[in-house]
Amino acid sequence: MNITVLGSGNMGGALVKGWAKAVRNKQADFSITCTAKTQNNLDKIKTDYPEVTTMTDNVLATCNADILVVAVKPWLVDEVIKKVEKVIKPTCLVVSVAASVENPKIDVYTMPNIAVEFGEGMSFIKNNESISVETINKVAELYKLLGKVMIVDEKQMNAGNMLAGCGIAYVMRMVRAMMSGGVEMGLYPNVAKEIAMQTMLGAVTVLENTGLHPEQAIDKVTTAGGLTIKGLNELDHAGFNSAVIRCLKAGLK
Ligand SMILES: NC(=O)c1ccc[n+]([C@@H]2O[C@H](COP(=O)([O-])OP(=O)(O)OC[C@H]3O[C@@H](n4cnc5c(N)ncnc54)[C@H](OP(=O)(O)O)[C@@H]3O)[C@@H](O)[C@H]2O)c1
Repeated sequence: MNITVLGSGNMGGALVKGWAKAVRNKQADFSITCTAKTQNNLDKIKTDYPEVTTMTDNVLATCNADILVVAVKPWLVDEVIKKVEKVIKPTCLVVSVAASVENPKIDVYTMPNIAVEFGEGMSFIKNNESISVETINKVAELYKLLGKVMIVDEKQMNAGNMLAGCGIAYVMRMVRAMMSGGVEMGLYPNVAKEIAMQTMLGAVTVLENTGLHPEQAIDKVTTAGGLTIKGLNELDHAGFNSAVIRCLKAGLK
């Protein structure tokens, strides 16, 4: 099977690298081709993943594709598809990662996040009544090589995009905020970053392994009259919960 990714920037590049690792780890067996406007990103991919075929010719890259992933900026999707549509094989599945762009040539709409590069992505695949369950599942299997996958309807897709696609940036902002606090208390930035990241990983691990609601887990670390509740109440006074909700809803259509 041949996977071609048109566009090898932040998202396309992360997908290519994630799939290349899956092939190296023998979790999958397919050939990967990727394209870009210029050589810059392609050269970086080629250096680390020489087995990936890279080129700037979208038509040549498309003609043998069994799966064609369109990963260019949303405003370029129609133009790029128009230039390659004549050479798309009838059996080829066209997959989009572009937020809110519809094109009749696209079979399956997906929304990954950049953690797919490291096998910890959170990806959404839009359920589409005009496409078979087998096809949706085929794309889901590809994305499962790169992390978690949910098959969702359009409304959930938008919410999922805000929580995961954009949300990964909001989580990183939380890491930065913890770093700022740590530095003010006398930690070196890199030390504060390491502590913040490990604490975040610890929180996720506790929630995953216990299945607890976050508030139940918070109760476990909150002593009456202790330090934790003082900080939690400061977060409430500052409107943390509300700020996060507003942040997530800000990009909804
Ligand atoms: N970034 C994310 O976290 C994220 C998450 C989910 C979905 N997406 C979606 O992914 C898509 C790409 O976003 P991005 O952040 O990866 O953008 P990006 O970093 O700017 O990458 C865009 C890529 O498209 C290439 N390109 C431009 N014109 C092209 C053409 N005519 N033919 C082939 N390739 C062309 C660029 O080439 P050069 O390398 O030469 O510049 C670059 O490799 C968008 O639709 C976005 O909505 C992004």
